[in-house]
Amino acid sequence: MTGTAAIVARHNPEWHRYELLDGDAVIGKTLYVPFEDAAGPLRIFYHTRIDDAYAGQGLASRLAGAALDGTRQARMRLVPVCPYIKAYLAKHPEYGDLVVAPRPEHLALVP
Ligand SMILES: CC(C)(COP(=O)(O)OP(=O)(O)OC[C@H]1O[C@@H](n2cnc3c(N)ncnc32)[C@H](O)[C@@H]1OP(=O)(O)O)[C@@H](O)C(=O)NCCC(=O)NCCS
Repeated sequence: MTGTAAIVARHNPEWHRYELLDGDAVIGKTLYVPFEDAAGPLRIFYHTRIDDAYAGQGLASRLAGAALDGTRQARMRLVPVCPYIKAYLAKHPEYGDLVVAPRPEHLALVP
């Protein structure tokens, strides 16, 4: 296998993040804070990072897609605070029904 084909995304619920793995190595992650309001559970996505050695190959996009699909499958909504996730959502309106605009109580929880 060549290029990025062997890199896989997975949820790490214990650490509240989605990860990209190249073999055993975590080479990218998108982090969230779990939150709940009257409308139900949601995830506040606040940071995305791809290792420099893997940049510019569409991996953040792959990771964001896995994280948003996983959030939908978990029947949760999401709050985009991370600029990368915001940009990804602007290009992928199919996730629009999941999005909750950031409020002060969300931002107060972001590290
Ligand atoms: C930003 C980052 C996650 C992108 O990872 P990547 O795998 O190289 O990204 P991809 O190849 O999947 O996507 C590149 C796209 O991301 C966009 N992008 C790059 N940096 C961005 C940022 N900070 N905010 C929003 N969009 C960004 C690019 O404009 C490009 O868009 P295009 O596909 O329309 O040309 C990576 O460079 C990184 O870890 N940077 C340091 C941490 C950071 O700034 N994180 C983002 C804010 S939390």
